[in-house]
Amino acid sequence: MEERLQKILAKAGIASRRSAEQLIRDGRIRVNGQVVMEMGCKADPAHDRITCDGKPMAFEEKVYVLLNKPAGYVTTLSDPQGRPVVTDLITEIPLRLFPVGRLDLDTEGALLMTNDGELGNSILHPRFEVKKTYEALVVGCPTPDKLNRLEQGIELDGFRTRPAAIRVLKRHKDQTLIEIVIHEGKKRQVRKMFQALNHRVLHLKRTAYGQLKLGTLPLGKYRVLTPDDLKKIFSGKIPFTIKNIPD
Ligand code: URA
Repeated sequence: MEERLQKILAKAGIASRRSAEQLIRDGRIRVNGQVVMEMGCKADPAHDRITCDGKPMAFEEKVYVLLNKPAGYVTTLSDPQGRPVVTDLITEIPLRLFPVGRLDLDTEGALLMTNDGELGNSILHPRFEVKKTYEALVVGCPTPDKLNRLEQGIELDGFRTRPAAIRVLKRHKDQTLIEIVIHEGKKRQVRKMFQALNHRVLHLKRTAYGQLKLGTLPLGKYRVLTPDDLKKIFSGKIPFTIKNIPD
């Protein structure tokens, strides 16, 4: 999020707001290599490289949490319609965490939240192919042929879905619980994939990012992730930021 430079410097704890202004006036602060001397200038500490006397500034501690999102919560920082937002559930961390990607209002399950923009982007970037696992309770009993088509990829809103892994977990009389693993994140993708085969999704829950599983985390609760947890998200292709997290 963009903020005034003097506010960012003050938050980073290197100076009070007033002495931050002096540092700026003295030409000691650079944003992405450019000296910045105007007071109104804004920057985004998550994306811009901010240095003081050539040294990168250390900003707030990076925190990563896994939340078990309940249905009825919006995956945004605020909601104009006044509905509950996922950040309402992060009660004991005095930092502004944002959700990595989204879950529909009516979807439950694993939602990563962090103040590390770089890591968030890596998880969403197709290059890292982070797998997301969902459990979908669908109407009816999809035939093996239909499930096979979903696995291969189907046409959806003008694009072809990438190969998915599918496993039937439980067959009821007129509903089926199916696990589906995808590494794309188009809006309402899982619901649309099943709907395309005429099997409406009744309940949807994300159970894992890569090998990082939701496990027994209660609905509405979160836990702070360790470096090992973060490594489980990425299978093999570890992004730069993760490599630098000390064990
Ligand atoms: N796919 C969906 O359809 N909904 C979600 O919330 C996530 C993935």
